[in-house]
Amino acid sequence: MLVEKNIPLQPLNTFHIVARAQSLVRIRCEADLLAVLADPQLADTRMFVLGGGSNIVLTGDVKPLVLKVEIAGRRLVQTTDRHFIVEAGAGENWHDFVAWTLAQGWPGLENMALIPGTVGASPVQNVGAYGVELQDRFESLDAMDLQSGEVFTLNAAQCAFGYRDSVFKHSSGGAPHQALGLKGRALIVRVRFALPKVWKPVLGYADLEKKMAGEQCPTPTAQQVFDWVCAIRRAKLPDPAVIGNAGSFFKNPTVSPEQCADIIARDPKVVHYRLADGAVKLAAGWLIDSCGWRGKSVGQAGVYEKQALVLVNRGAGSNGLGATGGEVMTLARAIQTSVYERFGIMLEPEPVVL
Ligand code: EPU
Repeated sequence: MLVEKNIPLQPLNTFHIVARAQSLVRIRCEADLLAVLADPQLADTRMFVLGGGSNIVLTGDVKPLVLKVEIAGRRLVQTTDRHFIVEAGAGENWHDFVAWTLAQGWPGLENMALIPGTVGASPVQNVGAYGVELQDRFESLDAMDLQSGEVFTLNAAQCAFGYRDSVFKHSSGGAPHQALGLKGRALIVRVRFALPKVWKPVLGYADLEKKMAGEQCPTPTAQQVFDWVCAIRRAKLPDPAVIGNAGSFFKNPTVSPEQCADIIARDPKVVHYRLADGAVKLAAGWLIDSCGWRGKSVGQAGVYEKQALVLVNRGAGSNGLGATGGEVMTLARAIQTSVYERFGIMLEPEPVVL
């Protein structure tokens, strides 16, 4: 096992924030983590699991031991009456995995094309896009306990998926529903997906409906949906390879119908969606946009011109340094304050702040 020291993390986070890991170990298989746990010098250190680095804001050098997950592999594990059960190693690139499943003839993940990050990170925040969330296609996952090294399997119910939420985002011992929280306690090794044998496109999302009408293609294939999602994302979301970012920076807030009525009275144009349980989801991007933030900056941290929900690093390309995590968080707090003052809603950040 190689413990790498003083490792630059700028290439390992999609915001391209400059920071270093004091020590880093690459985890390519279960034995690599067992070796870390068996090492008396490492066993008691705090650890941080790093996947594609697409949902983190680094506000300084990382002191916990970074476990960089690079577990590879993808295969069909089983065919049931209704599903192809397909498995991927946690270190596989998410988008490449989605493209590969389609090429194999196993559709179902196409709406989630181009989401940055790794397969192993996808259940942590229950990634989702264009009407499909990971939980809709999830079968089970294997994870390792970061203390004992034991491997355990979780099904969807045990993962406690919610909107951009799962058991992996909660600490244990909190509220009763968080009693089994696994935040900081597990490393996801591989994930299995249940992809439907009888496939139907999921097209309800406004941007996709528009695309379908424009292309006059009422019965698209999974590959067409994949191509449309890629085109929509490329048109409105910055490519992290070019402009550093961590996707949506805030969650879309859910409010009561009364709160929504109050906001509509203040601004009838507010973009909102009624949920099945009567609550209302508001478009955080619209709230931020209507407070005038689109295109604004604090230092080298900015609000993306085409999607106000995305904060970007404006500097990384030009001077090699770019925004600091502090600048990103100052901008994020300023946005939270102005949205709160105007609409009475406190936006909740999506990425993990380190
Ligand atoms: N809007 C504005 N101004 C803006 C941005 C958005 O008015 O600057 C409006 C749009 O016109 C639209 C509405 O807000 O009417 C919603 O915008 P969009 O369709 O772009 O989706 P979103 O709610 O902002 C969510 C996810 C994205 C996902 C898209 C598509 C969250 C936090 N974000 O964004 O996920 O790709 O829907 O499904 O739920 C991510 O999590 O990193 C991510 C990119």
